[in-house]
Formats: sequence, C-alpha cells, structure tokens
Amino acid sequence: MKSGGHMAAALSRPGIVMRSAIGLLLLCVSASGAGAAEMPPGASSCTGCHAASPTVDTPAPRLVGLSAASIEDAMSAWRSGSRPATVMDRIAKGFSDAEIKAIAAWYEAQGAK
Ligand code: HEC
Repeated sequence: MKSGGHMAAALSRPGIVMRSAIGLLLLCVSASGAGAAEMPPGASSCTGCHAASPTVDTPAPRLVGLSAASIEDAMSAWRSGSRPATVMDRIAKGFSDAEIKAIAAWYEAQGAK
C-alpha cells in the first residue's frame, strides 16, 4: 500500500505588494540674488582691507557708512594724484570709472541695511 499523502500546499501567501514609495525629489531651486546685493566686480579687491560689514573692524578706514559720492570722489582724487595716500593712490589707478561707481554704490548699500 502506498502511503504518501500529497501535502496540498494550500498556504496561499497573501501577496504582499510592497509599494515602494516613490521618492519625490524636491529640487530646491534657490532664487538667485536673494539676500545681500551681489558684489560688483572688483569689490572683492576692497573688502580685504575695507570690510563690507559694519561690525568688522579693520586697520583701513571704514567704507560702510560713507556715501557713494564720497567714495567716488576719493577714488578719483587718488587717480588724478591730487590726494595723498599710502596705498589707495596705487589701488585706485587699477579701477575704471564704471567699476568705482558700482563699488561705491555697493558699499553705500551695505551701510543702508
Ligand atoms: C591694501 C589694503 C586696501 C585695499 C585693498 C583697499 N584699500 Fe581703500 N584704504 C586703505 C587705506 C590704508 C586707506 C587710508 C588712505 C591711505 O593710506 O591710502 C584707505 C582709504 C580709502 C578710502 C577713504 C576713506 C575715508 O574715510 O576717507 C576710500 C574711499 C577707499 N579706501 C576705497 C577703497 C576701494 C573702493 C577699494 C577697492 C577698489 C579699496 N579702498 C581697497 C587700504 C586699502
């Protein structure tokens, strides 16, 4: 006599569907220009000596708080040689009118905060 029961594999596994959550990649596109006004070209050559922040003390005189006009006047006086200086006469000669105008306006804006 044959004995051999077939185990009916009635273990029906509930199909567990693993729904993998689709990761939503939120691309944070930061708006450019938010926050501090962008530094104009050339201004980084000034900030090493003249800090852009009113709370930072430097050996060089503070520019934050000066008007754009007074910065432009000083720069043009140095370029023409009519104002004595230790370093600024040489530095001023490396900048064009347009660059000085933009830098002066930027420093003025730092003081207006
Ligand atoms: C190497 C350091 C140095 C750098 C860089 C520098 N300055 Fe100066 N700045 C000085 C010093 C020092 C004085 C004082 C005058 C002098 O001795 O030449 C001065 C004075 C000034 C003044 C007169 C401030 C006042 O109260 O009368 C202005 C305006 C000025 N700098 C603008 C600038 C600008 C704009 C730049 C960038 C294009 C710049 N400086 C870069 C060191 C620097």
